[in-house]
Amino acid sequence: MANDLETLKRETLSALTAAHTQVEWDAVRVSTLGRSGKLTALLRQLGSFSPQERKERGQSLNRLRDELTALIEERGKEIEEEALQQRLQQERVDVTQPPTVPVQGKIHPISRTIEEITTIFSAMNFRVAEGPDVETQWHNFSALNTPAHHPARTEQDTFYLPPEAGKEEARVLRTQTSGVQIRTMLDDGAPVRIIAPGRTYRADHDATHSPMFHQCEGLVVEEGITLGHLKGCLIEFLRVFFNKPELPVRFRASYFPFTEPSMEIDIGWSKTSGEIGAGADWLEVLGAGMVHPRVLANCGLDPQRWQGFAFGMGVERLAMLKNGIPDLRSFYESDLRWLRHYGFSALSPATLTEGF
Ligand code: PHE
Repeated sequence: MANDLETLKRETLSALTAAHTQVEWDAVRVSTLGRSGKLTALLRQLGSFSPQERKERGQSLNRLRDELTALIEERGKEIEEEALQQRLQQERVDVTQPPTVPVQGKIHPISRTIEEITTIFSAMNFRVAEGPDVETQWHNFSALNTPAHHPARTEQDTFYLPPEAGKEEARVLRTQTSGVQIRTMLDDGAPVRIIAPGRTYRADHDATHSPMFHQCEGLVVEEGITLGHLKGCLIEFLRVFFNKPELPVRFRASYFPFTEPSMEIDIGWSKTSGEIGAGADWLEVLGAGMVHPRVLANCGLDPQRWQGFAFGMGVERLAMLKNGIPDLRSFYESDLRWLRHYGFSALSPATLTEGF
């Protein structure tokens, strides 16, 4: 290869090695292969050589052009890769690092309480089921063994909405999450093991009642389920939830249209100090019972084969008791000072390993 071609090759190579940015690389490319580039100029000068020289030099120049083109391309890819690596380094985020700025937001005690309830029941193999807030009267009452004339309907008097298009019956803002029991059994059949946390509505408003509040329903339907299972499950839940392995729990006969027998469940506490698990007083925290055979039948399940228990709890009530929140209304006031005081850090989710 002629000397000047060697020189051009060497110069181009060292310029390429020195280039580290797209712009520098492009400058080398243009000054070599571009329209007024060095190699292009040498090709143009070919005409001034004798035919013999022209042939040889022409071949060398063409080879050099191919060689340089490949080298330039290769270096271009390297530079692109370098730039990518650099970006990956710089933009790297370690999601496991603690935040460098204080986390402002807090988890609302209602959300936290639902999370804790869900965590405990998940460990007992329950899954979360959901249903609509606007419910049919059939799902909210009739299927739950509460026919139209039943006094329990007025006890839970609520907000009625116009019927769905083409239907006759007024709809209702659900007064309890129990309708989710019905929906789950109809959709999935048995066996069932669900909890259903969600909003509920009743025409009530005073210091201890809100027209909108939260319940968490539970339903187990399996073969051979007994009252013993109900008791074991709920005692375990309450003791873990309140973090009191010795928490006294009392089952008291009661009435719900959709369970038989039905019971209310109390925990031991002290009325004077408010301390849970201490003192001689009882506090009601749950409603429960064995699923009424008629409810199972309404959902297409044979009560001779399937048995179940159901329970329902007020989320606000549990949140108030556990966290010493004195006033129900404060849950819905969106007062940031309140939330900063009673709220939970978003960085420490409810887990059973840490305990609550
Ligand atoms: N739905 C009942 C209530 O709102 C609670 C309950 C649920 C009772 C399931 C028994 C079984 O009062």
